[in-house]
Amino acid sequence: MLTINGQYPGPTIYARRGDLVIVDVVNSAHQNITIHWHGVKMRRYPWSDGTNYVTQCPIRPGQSFRQRMILSDEEGTLWWHAHSDWSRNTVYGAIVILPPITQPFPFPKPHAHLPILIGEWWKGDVQQVMEEFLGGGGEPHVSDAFLINGQPGDLYPCSTQDTYKVSVEFGKTYLMRLVNAVMDNIMFFKIAGHKFTVVGTDGAYTKPLMTDYVAISPGQTIDLLLEANQPPSQYYMAARIYVVGGEYVSTPTTAIIEYVGNYTVPSPPPLPSFPEYNDTAASADFTSRLRSLADNVDVPKNVMKNLFFTLSVNLSPCTKSACVGTTRLMASMNNLTMLLPITTDILHAYYAGIDGVYDSNFPEFPPLVFNYTEDSIAKNESASEMATAVSVLEYDTTVEVVFQSTNFGRGVDHPMHLHGYSFYVVGSGSGDFDATTDPPNYNLLDPPLMQNIAVRRNGWTAIRFRANNPGVWFMHCHFERHLSWGMKMVFIVKDGQRPDEKLLPPPPDMPRCDTPTLRVANN
Ligand code: C2O
Ligand code: CU
Repeated sequence: MLTINGQYPGPTIYARRGDLVIVDVVNSAHQNITIHWHGVKMRRYPWSDGTNYVTQCPIRPGQSFRQRMILSDEEGTLWWHAHSDWSRNTVYGAIVILPPITQPFPFPKPHAHLPILIGEWWKGDVQQVMEEFLGGGGEPHVSDAFLINGQPGDLYPCSTQDTYKVSVEFGKTYLMRLVNAVMDNIMFFKIAGHKFTVVGTDGAYTKPLMTDYVAISPGQTIDLLLEANQPPSQYYMAARIYVVGGEYVSTPTTAIIEYVGNYTVPSPPPLPSFPEYNDTAASADFTSRLRSLADNVDVPKNVMKNLFFTLSVNLSPCTKSACVGTTRLMASMNNLTMLLPITTDILHAYYAGIDGVYDSNFPEFPPLVFNYTEDSIAKNESASEMATAVSVLEYDTTVEVVFQSTNFGRGVDHPMHLHGYSFYVVGSGSGDFDATTDPPNYNLLDPPLMQNIAVRRNGWTAIRFRANNPGVWFMHCHFERHLSWGMKMVFIVKDGQRPDEKLLPPPPDMPRCDTPTLRVANN
């Protein structure tokens, strides 16, 4: 497996709000790689954003790249991961961002910080899994386990001796920093015998939310305070898949919370009970309860650019010999399947003014208006268009994007992620978005500030942001298979007038694009 500094998960980066962190990435592997600081806005500096063929060409074997991770207003938990092929399956780690040294947390100081990374495991080379999957166009073969901090836990064969354990002292409070690094699934997370308080998500604080479970989507982080207030003993924390249909691994991954003290260890420790696997309401309800910590946040009130993006899994004709049958699965936004360039990256083409790499006409609305979520379209063959198209925004434009998931291919959730920004999630619902009746119900007072939002299956979500970070910024579904199938697009945000509103120049060691590439996947 591909690892960073021999560790899995990779090292946690500890920083304070506003820090500049410099990371030397040295590629000692036999494959190309890029590294992305997920959720870090990288103000005016997309050069280090680390997205393959969007902001850079990959770092080739034997080469290195000095990346600047530029923190600004992020505080809480973020994470870093590979952003080339499917390497993020094993190449990831947490980023813990503490308040400035002179400032308190907006809650009593926790006794300790516990990064909890939920991951996924294939017995075998994930690069091979990906190549098979891309060749045939079906679903990828199901993984073998889910993990907490690199370990599947007691419920999987031969794993008990390495189960991840944290020891806690009765009466103390711990800040658990949850990251979903799973490839293709939203996960439910619970702790046996304990309720807890969610206090942040995606590197921003939230109003305290008392709950006994969370639903966390790939890419998302959730900070929660766990008070060790139960009879001293051992308790499982566990994560289990949320999924609608298809094949999947149903065994929860577990870790053990172990109270300090003398007691008889229960065998086995109590396990939390989960919502049903396919409980879309349980997943969406949790997410819709998140609120910004402050009231009257600076959510844009006057929208200058309204975008409406349909999210679809398409069935397109398949002509390759590896195809099973005559169709293959693809994915699209506004029926457009994004192809990334091969010989250069979009940021370089934009900065150097190279024509012919991308078109600037990414559609603002879907080509056809229909009932996006009705039952009858579930089995339709719906071919998408393929193109390399971007959406260009003037500096400081206020933008609303309504994501509308469609029922093609039965309908699934889509955790959408935007690079370079946080956005306010102002509304969501099930069924088709209604431009007349839904906006009056938006929350413009204390919507949560996020970078990943799970758009529920056969539902919609509206986000708003101000385009005040110039650069080239990827937006995509954080389900790896949807990303590979083309559910992605790029915003180019133009420079503003003032000097501090313009892109910074590239570093001298930007990985070069002009040597033959080992690239396999289109992500
Ligand atoms: Cu977690 Cu495009 O990234
Ligand atoms: Cu998706």
